[in-house]
Amino acid sequence: MILQGVLDSFDVKCWLFFIFVFLLVVDIVRSRPPPKFPSGPWSLPFLGNVFTNLDFKTMDKMAADYGPVFSLRRGSERIVFISGYKMVKEALINQLHSFADRPITPLFYVTFKGIGIALSNGDMWKNQRKFANTHLRNFGEGKKGLEHHIQLESSFLCEAFKEEQGRGFNPHFMLNNAVGNVISSVVFGHRFEYSDENFQKLLRLDNEAVILAGSAMAQLYDVFPNIVKHLPGPHQTINSNYRQITDFLQQEIDKHKEDWDPENPRDYIDTYLTEINKRKEDPTAGFNTETLVICTLDLFEAGMETAATTLRWALVYMMNYPEIQKKVQAEIDKVIGQSRQPNMSDRTNMPYTDAVIHEIQRIGNVVPLGFPKMASKDATLGGYFIPKGTTIHTNLSSVLFDKDEWETPYTFNPEHFLDSDGQFRRRDAFMPFSAGKRVCLGENLARMELFLYFTTLLQRFSLSPVPGAMPTLEGVLGFTYSPEDFLVRALPR
Ligand code: HEM
Repeated sequence: MILQGVLDSFDVKCWLFFIFVFLLVVDIVRSRPPPKFPSGPWSLPFLGNVFTNLDFKTMDKMAADYGPVFSLRRGSERIVFISGYKMVKEALINQLHSFADRPITPLFYVTFKGIGIALSNGDMWKNQRKFANTHLRNFGEGKKGLEHHIQLESSFLCEAFKEEQGRGFNPHFMLNNAVGNVISSVVFGHRFEYSDENFQKLLRLDNEAVILAGSAMAQLYDVFPNIVKHLPGPHQTINSNYRQITDFLQQEIDKHKEDWDPENPRDYIDTYLTEINKRKEDPTAGFNTETLVICTLDLFEAGMETAATTLRWALVYMMNYPEIQKKVQAEIDKVIGQSRQPNMSDRTNMPYTDAVIHEIQRIGNVVPLGFPKMASKDATLGGYFIPKGTTIHTNLSSVLFDKDEWETPYTFNPEHFLDSDGQFRRRDAFMPFSAGKRVCLGENLARMELFLYFTTLLQRFSLSPVPGAMPTLEGVLGFTYSPEDFLVRALPR
């Protein structure tokens, strides 16, 4: 009776207040972290730290305040950030099996659906990664292998540079096309002319998606997908771009199906079609056309922007450091000369050039936060407890700039990779490809591309800025960290 009386006396405001307090209590109970969970900044109820941008500069500042393992709350989820060489190594190498899965990121799930290589888990991931790895290895063998394709493509790239006749030009999409053509040769069995409008359009759609993936709205999508998916914004552009890219890939696959000859596989798609046939009786292996589309998308997505952006950084640094450019050219002239193309066996005789390429990758910091991962089981890291299923980010940028590992972390300094005799020295904290179970699948291919494109360009051209327009060393942050668009002059040597 008394309760009835109290309830009857409630007006709308009281009810709203009562519901708010109830939801607040539910939120506090639901989002309470387990004991010994990494700490982090104070967060708003319901929203958490959604107003904190997840970029590597902010994450570096937070690591300075909260230590190498800290957490942020995004909506009701708590995400853990791991920084610095020691802790990232502990997570990815010493605890090899603890952080090997991918979380579901709603924005990318729309396209990638948790299948393929880069965003899948379990048997699907194992089978698809192994298959792609084997193909890359087999494709890499023999005279017509990867090295041959990259050398050939380097010549086309040099031709395109030469056609600019020493005028200032923006090399952005030439480099993307050159790198994209290597993946195209592996996957489609052919390259695209730099004047091919369809492929150029695909490169631009991809570049736009990668940049927009770092926007605040795209990050908000992952926190409140059911609300944000109905709103306009960059996330809609990302999804639309990926739809157009997958349509393009689907068309290539359909063309392959028309003239597929299992006895004479030409490329990754042909070999995959054979695998689909072989594994018809075993649907759980995940070999089907839908997965093939996503695997080819993975190879383009993971392999194109990353390597092309590194090459753009290479040009930016060579223009900013002409004395280093000259030293690389002197080594090229000594070891290779002008009468033949560089090949991979030259690398061991070119420690200075190798060191410069490593330093470009270090300071270029192309994938600053790596790809997100998920604790595959309950784990303890740095004395903190991280329950199975927690999303983690390994801050690769904090490793590449770790002041305990690098003599001059913020200075472009190839000496980081040279010993006192001028020989190349490996550095453990060189982790642009990440490490552990999910280490970049294309690391070898990427290293080959960087060496061959870089040496071939500097063998043929001296690179300089347009007078008064030195490219800035400050980058643009999206999913990758890339140079601002710039003009370069390539004068034949
Ligand atoms: C300079 C060039 C490149 C850089 C800096 C780079 C960097 C990375 C990084 C940081 C990851 C995330 C690893 C992790 O989650 O811990 C990754 C994954 C991956 N990369 Fe690369 N990458 C490059 C080139 C390539 C190329 C050329 C390919 C093409 C074959 C490729 C294919 C992949 C794939 C498929 C994954 C996902 C691996 C998995 O989830 O198992 N990458 N890469």
